[in-house]
Amino acid sequence: MKLPVRMRRLRETAAVRKLFQETTVGLQNLVQPYFVVPEKGVKREAKKGTALWQVSTEPLVEEAVALARAGCGGLMLFGVPPFKHDTPEKLPEQLAPLTSAITALKKTTASFPIFSDVCLCSYTTHGHCGLVKDGTILNDESVKALCVQAVELARAGVDFVCPSDMMDGRVGAMRAALDEAGFSRVGIVSYAVKMASAFYGPFRAAADSAPQFGDRTSYQMPAHNRREARREWQLDEAEGADVLLFKPALTNLDLIRDAREGSDLPLCAYQVSGEYAMVRAAADAGLLDFERAIIEQLVAIRRAGADIVVSYHARAMAGLAGP
Ligand code: PBG
Repeated sequence: MKLPVRMRRLRETAAVRKLFQETTVGLQNLVQPYFVVPEKGVKREAKKGTALWQVSTEPLVEEAVALARAGCGGLMLFGVPPFKHDTPEKLPEQLAPLTSAITALKKTTASFPIFSDVCLCSYTTHGHCGLVKDGTILNDESVKALCVQAVELARAGVDFVCPSDMMDGRVGAMRAALDEAGFSRVGIVSYAVKMASAFYGPFRAAADSAPQFGDRTSYQMPAHNRREARREWQLDEAEGADVLLFKPALTNLDLIRDAREGSDLPLCAYQVSGEYAMVRAAADAGLLDFERAIIEQLVAIRRAGADIVVSYHARAMAGLAGP
C-alpha cells in the first residue's frame, strides 16, 4: 500500500512510544485522601477493598512520612467527628481530631502539602452539607459555619481548604474570613463543579455522612448541565479560588476540558470512591486488570486537563501496602 501517513511508525517500539507520549501521570500529581477518626491507634480500611483509609494521628503521620519520601503530591483530609451537632458552636471540639492531626503533620512533614475538606455533612445529625431548618438548607448561615471550619483548619496549619458543600458565595466569604484571621497564606481549592452523583456511595459509609432525609440535589449540581458548570467555576474564580476542583472525574471530563480552555487556574479532579470501587469490583470478579484500568482512568483525567488528581490509588503508587 502507498500510504502518505503511517501512524504505527510512532508506536513500533516502547522507546519511541515513550518519547512521544503526550500525557504523564506521576505520583507528584496525586493527592491521597484519609479519614481522620477520633480513636487512638487506628489504621483500617473502612471496608475491605475500598482504599478508604480511616486513621488516627500517629499512623497518619507515618503514612505522610512515607508518601512525602516517595514524592506524592499531598494529603486530602476528612474529619470524622467524635459527636454530631446541628449548630456551629461546637465545631472546634468536633474538629479536634482533625486539627490535632494537622498540627502533628506540620511538625513532622512541614513542607508536605495538606488539603482539607470543608463541609458539614459528617458533622451534623441530618448529614446535609449545610445547616438545616424545617427541612430546608440555610445557605447564608451555612456559609458562616463553613468559614468557622476553614479558619479552625487554617489555625491548625492546613495549606489548602477545600469547600465541598456547594453553598452559594462560600468561596468569597471564606477568602475574606481567612484573610481577616491572618491566614492569607492558606489557599482555597474550590469544589467548583460537584455533581449530585451516585459515585460517592463508598465514601459516605467511611465518613458517616449520608443524608438522613432527602438528597443533595438542592445544592450539588445536576450532571446534565454544561453551561451551568461553566457558571459555577467562573463564579468561584471571580470569588478568589486558587484551584478549581471537578468531581466525579470520569463523568465530567468534558467539563474539565471546558475549564482548561476557559481558565488559567490550576485544575484538580477527584477520582471518587465509586470510580475506584467499580474498577476494584470488576478486577475482583476477574473481568479486568486493576492496575492498568485505574491508571487508564488517571491518564484520561490528566489528558482532559487536570493538573492534580485526588486519588485513592496514590498510596499504592507510592508502594505502601494495602488493597
Ligand atoms: C463531602 C464530600 C463527599 C465527597 C467528598 N466530599 C461526599 C458527598 O458529597 O456526599 C465524596 C468523595 C468520594 O466519593 O470519594 N460533602
